[in-house]
Amino acid sequence: MTSAKITIERTQTPKSKPKDSSSLGFGNYYTDHMFIMDYDSGQGWHNPRITPYAPLSLDPAAMCLHYGQEVFEGMKAYRAPDGGAVLFRPDKNMARLNVSNRRLCIPEIDEEFAIEAIKQLVSIDKDWIPKGEGTSLYIRPFIIAVDPHIGVHPADHLLFIIILSPVGAYYPEGINPVRIYVERNFVRAVRGGMGYVKTAGNYAASLKAQDEADKQGYTQVLWLDGVERKYIEEVGTMNVFFKISGEIVTPALQGSILGGITRMSCIDLLRSWGYTVNERTLSLAEVEQAAENGNLEEAFGTGTAAVISPIGELKVEDKHLIINDNRIGEVAQRLYDTLTGIQNCRIPDPFGWVVRI
Ligand code: COI
Repeated sequence: MTSAKITIERTQTPKSKPKDSSSLGFGNYYTDHMFIMDYDSGQGWHNPRITPYAPLSLDPAAMCLHYGQEVFEGMKAYRAPDGGAVLFRPDKNMARLNVSNRRLCIPEIDEEFAIEAIKQLVSIDKDWIPKGEGTSLYIRPFIIAVDPHIGVHPADHLLFIIILSPVGAYYPEGINPVRIYVERNFVRAVRGGMGYVKTAGNYAASLKAQDEADKQGYTQVLWLDGVERKYIEEVGTMNVFFKISGEIVTPALQGSILGGITRMSCIDLLRSWGYTVNERTLSLAEVEQAAENGNLEEAFGTGTAAVISPIGELKVEDKHLIINDNRIGEVAQRLYDTLTGIQNCRIPDPFGWVVRI
């Protein structure tokens, strides 16, 4: 663990920033600086520094390139109306990063120090936080194993890096309903595997099905459990919620899906508004039945990148379940307005979620 001072080297060649915040897309631009810190066994995490954003030099045998010993986080900095910058529940992201670290045999980071590193980096690049509606500065902390060693074992040398990207909506649909393809052949994760942590392999496992969904005109894939292939899990870039006969249901965290920070915040908001929210097993059959009976009132996804994303259609083999007439549901809209209102400091933050930089 380090409490070392972060050294700062500013860029001499600042890049020009995207002019039109309405066409940022997601993950297309990176700011002028990045944070980097080394780990060596025996020495621990050391040499924290902010440097100009630049390519890394890695040995071709670096272990992360071969065995995927990597973890990451996704969080955002938002612009407040007074021009200041804020983070949303950064303690939860850093706690989750350590959950991922433990699963991947990566040495834990000092969570408070990591938040301080994020604050300093965002402060240096604060002019990159976009101003337009629905925009923010996406923060991507990640850790990679860099020992040049083609034997399979936990690494002794790692890098903790943080990069920043000004972003708009993750899905081209924005807050409009997305079409989701229910995957029946491939699975994303099983209990005991890595599905509950943020690591590259989970996303690599999703590409094949995502590609098929794309070809068929669907935005994302809804994953079923890896054993019985009956129960709803998550979308991969977001957790999912369904409103069935007034009850709001989201799959319980049982080891194969990610515990989203947006997911937990939505559960808190919904309960504070008096909704019944149950984290439980939910079968695809129950959702199909509810759709047939007219009881499937809403479906939406939640995630840092995706924010709140209403689901307008679920494709289950050759069936197309149209949800809420493919319109934005009342619950999804209220969650979106409240969450983004709190994140952008436009409305009060009764939960104390927002952290000023
Ligand atoms: C996030 O929501 O931050 C994610 O990590 C999802 C994604 C962009 C891979």
